[in-house]
Amino acid sequence: MIDYSKTTTPTIFIVFGATGDLMRRKLIPSLYQLYQRKLLPPLFHIIGYSRRDWGDKEFRDMVAASLIERLPDTAQGVLHPFLHLFSYSQGMFDTADGYEKLASRLGVRDKEWRTCANKIFYLAVPPEYYKTIFHHLSDSHLAVGHSEEAGWTRLIVEKPFGKDLKTAEKLDALLGTLFKEDQVYRIDHYLGKETVQNILAFRFSNSFLEHAWSKDFIERIHIKISEQIGIEGRGELFDGVGLLRDMGQNHMLQLLALFTMDTPKDFAADTIRAKRAEVLRALKPFTARTVSKHSIHAQYDGYTQEKNVAPDSQTETYYMIRAHLNTQRWRGVPIILENGKALKDAIAKISVRFRHPSPCLCPGSTHFHNVLRYQVQPQERISMSFWVKRPGTEMKIEENDFVFDYKQAYPDTEFIGPYEKLLLDVLQGNQTLFVSTSEIMASWRFVDNVLRSWKKAGQPMLHYQKGTDGPTERVTLHP
Ligand code: BG6
Repeated sequence: MIDYSKTTTPTIFIVFGATGDLMRRKLIPSLYQLYQRKLLPPLFHIIGYSRRDWGDKEFRDMVAASLIERLPDTAQGVLHPFLHLFSYSQGMFDTADGYEKLASRLGVRDKEWRTCANKIFYLAVPPEYYKTIFHHLSDSHLAVGHSEEAGWTRLIVEKPFGKDLKTAEKLDALLGTLFKEDQVYRIDHYLGKETVQNILAFRFSNSFLEHAWSKDFIERIHIKISEQIGIEGRGELFDGVGLLRDMGQNHMLQLLALFTMDTPKDFAADTIRAKRAEVLRALKPFTARTVSKHSIHAQYDGYTQEKNVAPDSQTETYYMIRAHLNTQRWRGVPIILENGKALKDAIAKISVRFRHPSPCLCPGSTHFHNVLRYQVQPQERISMSFWVKRPGTEMKIEENDFVFDYKQAYPDTEFIGPYEKLLLDVLQGNQTLFVSTSEIMASWRFVDNVLRSWKKAGQPMLHYQKGTDGPTERVTLHP
């Protein structure tokens, strides 16, 4: 349940990098949805901070254009007052005068509202600017809050948080000297997706799953995110980084954590975050020898001709890794992580294959396996395959499905988008759907290990054609 009462205090939302892609594609439409549904505090203002030499008018024009492009049905009557929530403060990320100007704007707003408003700083900038922005926020005292009830300050940081364990640790140490952990919200937008939030409800509210959720009953788990899109002109950000860092370190490993974490004692943010971190820490590292047996990586044909990609680039756009967890619950169960761009299907799905009954009264060589298919997108649905006697005179047993489709089950309920949900949670001070520092470090430790092992092993880069299922070579699903 959304607790509206907590989101009524005056709040200013400051976006660094406000003229960029994230603001246009995600933040503006999400803020608009929240505004339309009256979920924003009554006194709410958005300040865009960027290097571009713009004033309020140019900024509002950009907001209007982005909104109309993404939500063409935007009503003029709502658009006008919505645009007035926005203003622009021009400044460099690495010089003090921009921050001083910003501070005086914030002061003016506080005077006008006769209060010390809450401040949310959103870093929608390339990660190389994080450090300098953290320092300037601290030096200019912009991030000093008054109290936890009113006049608080919170910081939202986009992924990637660092580019490996070392840089993430450095960034974290710096953040730790400037902000308290409860002020920092590290976004992984997958955690805001409706079906991803449902994973814990599904796992821990259904008693039939409770005892079945372990190596004794589950044979393997396959987590797959495949996209039809390629790198969409993001060569500069993507090349040399690769898909394992771009989506593996965050979205894929968060799905793994939610599916495999131990039962929490309650649903409090700290408990959930600690349980997710615990299971991520249990990921078994590879050696140069084991990595070749348990993983492949590949690049789509034509990738090196994309804009801002090196012609001899060895960056992966696809990988498949058979991971293992060193825990009592999961020891020996392969967890396949499969993730790729420019593939045939756009789908995010987790398949959990149960062991067959033993003794298995199955005919011939077919075993009766139940498979739970938990689909995050495009349709939000859960299906469970089961075995049933086909009507008729013979005892013929066939596979069939129980299907739960979220949108069909709740036809009149409006779904809330991931960024809307996450912004609301920041307003309400709920960190459950944000990634803790321990999770970030555990994920980087695993990803660094894979990348290092690939390098040491001289792992060959495979190739695949766009619009296919990926490379023809696959990691076998069995250990
Ligand atoms: C982003 C990645 O975090 O997630 C992109 O940087 C990817 O490469 C995107 O395309 C996928 O998100 P979604 O919500 O469209 O599945």
